[in-house]
Parts: sequence; C-alpha cells; structure tokens
Amino acid sequence: MRTIDLRSDTVTKPTPEMRRAMAEAEVGDDVFHDDPTVIALEERAAELLGKEAGLFVASGTMGNLVAELAHVARGQEIIAGRQSHVVLDEAAGHAVVAGASVRTIEERADGTLDPTAVRESFRDPTDEHQPITGLVVIENCHAHTMNQPLTPAYTAEIAAVAHAGHGTAPGVPLHVDGARFWNAVVALGVSPAELAGPADSVSFCLSKGLACPVGSVVVGRRDVIWRARRARKLLGGGLRQVGVLAAAGLIALRDGPAGMIERLAEDHANARRLAEAIAELDGVESAGDIAQPQPGAFDPARVTTNFVLFRVRRDRAAFLEAAAARGVLLDSYPHDQVRAVTHHGIEPGDVTAAVIAIRDALAATHDPRSGRHAHAGVAG
Ligand SMILES: Cc1ncc(COP(=O)(O)O)c(C=O)c1O
Repeated sequence: MRTIDLRSDTVTKPTPEMRRAMAEAEVGDDVFHDDPTVIALEERAAELLGKEAGLFVASGTMGNLVAELAHVARGQEIIAGRQSHVVLDEAAGHAVVAGASVRTIEERADGTLDPTAVRESFRDPTDEHQPITGLVVIENCHAHTMNQPLTPAYTAEIAAVAHAGHGTAPGVPLHVDGARFWNAVVALGVSPAELAGPADSVSFCLSKGLACPVGSVVVGRRDVIWRARRARKLLGGGLRQVGVLAAAGLIALRDGPAGMIERLAEDHANARRLAEAIAELDGVESAGDIAQPQPGAFDPARVTTNFVLFRVRRDRAAFLEAAAARGVLLDSYPHDQVRAVTHHGIEPGDVTAAVIAIRDALAATHDPRSGRHAHAGVAG
C-alpha cells in the first residue's frame, strides 16, 4: 500500500535535480563569506523579493528568531497574532533568546490582524511600567486560518501602522513570517517583490512547498541582514560549506517550470479538490475557522492554498489511526482540527485515493455523540 503523507509539506524530499546540484555544488567557508552557492542563493532571494540582502538560515524558526534579534532590543515587546507560529510554536525564542515579550492580538477569520488593534497595542513609552514596543510580526500565509494568503494591500496597511507608531510611541519595523510566502504569491497571482515590499524583513522556507531538504532565507535592508547575520552566529547557525544545502534552494527559486514556485498552483488545486470531496463526507463537521471555532458548514472555498483543516464527528485520535491504517497520514491541529496538506509528490490520483481512505476511516470510527460505530478494520 502506497502511503499518502498529508501531514505537512515539510515531508517533501529533494528532487533528483536538487540532489545532483547538491552533490556538484561549488562550496567555501560561508562564515568567511566564501561560499559562492550560498551567496548566489542569498542574492537570488533578495532580488526576487526586492530587498537589498538575504541570509540563508537553518530553518523557519531560526529565520524568525534572527529577524527578532535584528529588530528588537532586550525588554522590548513584539506585537503578533495570537495564533501565529512565532507566538505558539517556536519554544518562546522571543522571550528565551531575544528577551522580548509578546503582545498578542486575535486574528480575524481570514488570518489578518485588525490594523486598529495593532495601533492600539503600542505601549506608552512615557510610562516607566510598560515594555517598549519594538516590532510587529505578521504571518503570510496564515497557517491557523486555513493557510490563507494575505494581500499586498493588507501588508502595506499593517506596515503603515507599524511605521507610524501610536501617540508618543515611535514607529517600529514589520517582519513577515513568510514560511509559506510562495504559496501566497502563487495563490494571489502577485509578484514577490510587491508582497514583500512594505515589510522590513521577510523570512521564507525552502523546505516546505519548495521541496528543499533544509533551509530558509531572510531578506531585508543591508543593515537589518547584517544584524541578522550576527544573530545567526550567536545561535550557532554560522555554517561552513553550506552551499551543499543552498544549491537545492537555487533550483527551487528558478523562474518558470524549471523551479518549484509555479508548481505550487498544483498543490492548491489538489487541496481544493480534496476539500470539496471531504466536505461531502458523512462525519465531517466544520471548517478550520479559528475566529468561530464552533461547528458550522465546512466551506471548501476557504481553501486557497495547500492546507485543508477540518473537524470530524469522531474520536479524533481513533480517526487518525484509522486513516493511517488505510495509508493516509494526517495531522492533528489546534481547535480539534485535522490537517491535510498537499505538496510536491502528491498527485491528483493520490487525492482520489485519500478521499476514499478518509471516507472509510470515518465510517470505521466511533462517533462519541451518537454512539455510532461503523464497521471496523481496513475497508477495501
Ligand atoms: C507559519 C510558520 N512559521 C514558521 C515555521 C517554522 O519553520 P521550521 O519548521 O523550518 O522551523 C513554520 C513551520 O511549520 C510555520 O508553519
């Protein structure tokens, strides 16, 4: 039985072309700025996003942390969404390493922050009791709200609020956690430079939908990236002949069908088809709407990138086990949701097979509210 792994787009493996490029990469000591492949990747990323400079880092988490360290002084505060990765899923690096507190704002159902709430979250710098606001962070795509893409107009609006400050509080930079930035670019049909333009720094992952084995890139002004580079050193992230990893990134960021960016549209189409089919299944409860986490209609129209978030009227752990027994790996996600993520290597035929397995897993799993328990075991 072929396993259809929909847990995350992080499970993607490097393509044969990436592996060849990695094997043949010209390398040098990147701590001495001597690795031509890393330099080429950083320049390519900066060029694509319309920024002065780039920095290759080990992971999305490291990208966000070096950006925080570049922007924020100890004792300052970061304004961010309550359901964002930097707040929930990065082991509190902002507090542990950067020495910054976080002031959270509830995201709206489309993953955006209310600009007025951002403005009003600035602290009063004339009050000695309060932390000092130092940074605004947004996440694009916004994972917890169905990985929805946020537009350039929204990014510009939040950047304007961040840069303006509030009352006596001076303006601060805007960092975009763009772990799935390229999914937003493709879903919205905008240029990466337009989407990144208003931000002072953007980090994006190579190791998710772009299918590279390792790495993220942070881009921004030259002075910001210099501070991020220093922060990367502090974190032990100054690597040596790391062109072997950057080489895969250069393959991914090529223009057109030779690269991995355009291809993301296939993942989005597969996710939409998966969502439409899941919405029809008996036992599926509601959409992944964190703003209204009550039961409601599952709306596949909200699936515009590669995440399908849904709830099941079943014991969730048992359902996930039943799906795995049928060859489909899904992930549990906050608010009692199940996550299915499409990615490189998932073909339309896999979507069809996954829907059948999910249908059968639902049928085979206990509904705790009705006491209903359909047939057990792996269906044919
Ligand atoms: C929105 C978001 N930001 C950052 C990250 C961190 O990426 P990494 O797992 O490479 O540290 C992730 C990972 O899933 C993510 O979803």
